Amino acid sequence: MSDGSVTATPASQELTREEIARIDPSGQLGDVLALPDHLRDALWRAESAIMQDWDTSAGLVVAGMGGSAIGGALARAALGDHASRPIFVTRAYGIPTWTTPDTMVLCASYSGDTEETLACYESAGALGAKRTVVTTGGRLAEMARADGVPVIPLPAGFQPRAAVAYMIVAALEVAALCGAGPRLTSEIDVAASHLEHLVAEWGPDAPEDSLAKVVARGLFGTTPVIAGAGLTNPIAYRWKTQINENAKQPCFSHELPELDHNELAGWEGAHEVGRFSAVFLDDSDAHPRVKQRMDLTEKMIAGNAVASFRLETRGQTAIERVLSLVLLGDLVSIYLATLRGVDPGPVKALDELKAELAKL
Ligand code: F6R
Repeated sequence: MSDGSVTATPASQELTREEIARIDPSGQLGDVLALPDHLRDALWRAESAIMQDWDTSAGLVVAGMGGSAIGGALARAALGDHASRPIFVTRAYGIPTWTTPDTMVLCASYSGDTEETLACYESAGALGAKRTVVTTGGRLAEMARADGVPVIPLPAGFQPRAAVAYMIVAALEVAALCGAGPRLTSEIDVAASHLEHLVAEWGPDAPEDSLAKVVARGLFGTTPVIAGAGLTNPIAYRWKTQINENAKQPCFSHELPELDHNELAGWEGAHEVGRFSAVFLDDSDAHPRVKQRMDLTEKMIAGNAVASFRLETRGQTAIERVLSLVLLGDLVSIYLATLRGVDPGPVKALDELKAELAKL
């Protein structure tokens, strides 16, 4: 058994395409770099899925787990104040009790076989809610087809978490269809072009001192703690889960201003119990007091964090800004996997747990 000490020597010295390819046989890096193409393809798929306009005055519930649920949370952040009805994300075996026939429930599962999402699909049906499904197939697609529920079809062959652009666009399109938000089609298209520039700036062909590579090196050998606020909240959670699943290491996330009321105190003893680093995800539109809190919090924890980064969203529209830091975090997680010498693709532990549960 390991004594828990950290190997501070990276498995790979350089973060080049060749070095990354060595540990990434399934091409997770390629899927991250293709985010702009995924956005465009997703728009086309969502629009081609025959869907009638369903005005649901009680709003939208997005039901899903892990990499399939995050799209709903990021879509809600991108809509921000433009959401005209409640948008709620549920990651559980059931949907909220306030769901009515006037609620749209989008069941999102890349595989279509996630038991929690299947349970949500069934309870939404029992409550008479309007349903839409986004999936590659599985039991979810079978049930939806049998019930005449619209299906937004996804391309197969990804890790579910790599289909994030598809899940965001599906949630945005369904939000527009059910009257929970404005249609963002052209903004998504512009965001895809914006993202292409960032892919060049932070991708594997960029210099070793480019942002994503510097952040990955700074976080290497530490337990990162990611802080978001408002629009960047679900992005902080995306960073956490991508570092967990791609780099196969612990990582945690929290949100401001709440973390100033608890986690801040925990940083006092951080250096006594481990090597922790901090990442603050800022946004041009954040509340001015939240920005001041970020400044102060970063200063206060400085002596107890091995490394600390303050990173700001890039872009004009909310969807551009959301996607910019999603891309940065996804790249950082692949670079961290490379430094750690681990294959970012398979998530053996998740598969094992699902297999064990299936036996019960
Ligand atoms: C795996 C991943 C997981 C899955 C989750 C739900 O890449 O990201 O978080 O998304 O286990 O499975 P699906 O997405 O198939 O419903």
